[in-house]
Amino acid sequence: MKPEPAINVNEVISLEERYQLATYKKMPIVPDRGEGVWIYASYGERYLDLYGGHAVAATGHCHPHVVKAIKEQAEKLLFYSNLVYSEARARAAEKLVSLAPDVLTKAFFCNSGTEANENAMRMARMTTGRQNIITFSGGFHGRTADAISATFLGKYRELGKPNVPGHLQAEFGDIDSARALADDSVAAIMLEPIQSMAGVRMAEPSFYRALRELCDERGIILIYDEVQTGIGRTGEWFFAGSKAGDGVVPDIVTLAKALGSGIPVGACLVTEKVAAHIKENDLGTTFGGGMIAMAAVTATLEAIEEDEMLENVRTVEAYLRARLKGVEQVVNVRGRGFVLGLEFADAAKPIHEALLDRRIITGTSSDARVLRLLPPLCLKREEVDLFVDALALIRSQ
Ligand SMILES: Cc1ncc(COP(=O)(O)O)c(C=O)c1O
Repeated sequence: MKPEPAINVNEVISLEERYQLATYKKMPIVPDRGEGVWIYASYGERYLDLYGGHAVAATGHCHPHVVKAIKEQAEKLLFYSNLVYSEARARAAEKLVSLAPDVLTKAFFCNSGTEANENAMRMARMTTGRQNIITFSGGFHGRTADAISATFLGKYRELGKPNVPGHLQAEFGDIDSARALADDSVAAIMLEPIQSMAGVRMAEPSFYRALRELCDERGIILIYDEVQTGIGRTGEWFFAGSKAGDGVVPDIVTLAKALGSGIPVGACLVTEKVAAHIKENDLGTTFGGGMIAMAAVTATLEAIEEDEMLENVRTVEAYLRARLKGVEQVVNVRGRGFVLGLEFADAAKPIHEALLDRRIITGTSSDARVLRLLPPLCLKREEVDLFVDALALIRSQ
């Protein structure tokens, strides 16, 4: 006999549809609990989560160390604003800065990726006294006014009309297109170093180096939007400073998603040069740096370290790539670490759906032929086997 469902699935679905704006295309899943790379729905059926709740669940679902830290903080103090000092905030800032490339010495905490990018662009304008921002075709930076105006991907920018003025579009991977726009009106060049939503697009290492040189030459602030690539997803703590990016370190790195293992939190990491231009009351947010979020940040970073997840990402990525060589349908594997785009000859959506029927959650992207994988950083070989075997079965149908 099946156990009683913990929740009434149909009721939950109909209530959400009745009382929420229809802004999301949802999968027909009502997760009840999560553990590691698994999501458990009612009746105990489980899903292999290769999407990580949109790159958020880096430490896996409900990592015990993170849950404990949140619980302990919740019992002490849920929140107090930035007008007081906080041990939780002090520890989180110290830990985050200690893992970042050396020149990124100060943190500003906010609540989301789009907010981190808004603040990064504002800091660049304050530092340079200039207005314009160059971003790239295919980049996604969020949905608030300035961030959506910086997003030259599909319909997003249109949704933000009227856009914030002064946003200029260069071609991703093409340094000449950036150089042509980089005059003395430009405060910042901002990019997703790996363009996730666009279908996991990377540039050559020399592109990142050339951007750094261009910014240095023309007094422009370089911003990496590492909302997806940060906090270990590429098999290194950050894309900034990594070999894939020719060791380039930008002036500002923005973070969110994985940073709090699911507790909303964003951050900007900045150099001393940028920090020197930011004064009291220049930036702010009520909830940024709140104690629960800060406890989650420290515990997230500790869990990744203690469980050696960066090494895991690198070895399991290599294993996954090797296994995918045996799947004829996959014509190319893009990306790095656990931000991967599997390119198919035809549309990826039917494959995404067929995998969902087999209880494997993956992501699509703006590139119709690319299936995205953004799994927790603790994904193991056995789970890769489950995925690749399922993919091979879909192929043979
Ligand atoms: C690269 C990148 N930047 C910014 C954002 C916006 O983050 P948030 O949804 O937390 O505002 C996203 C969200 O998907 C993202 O992928």
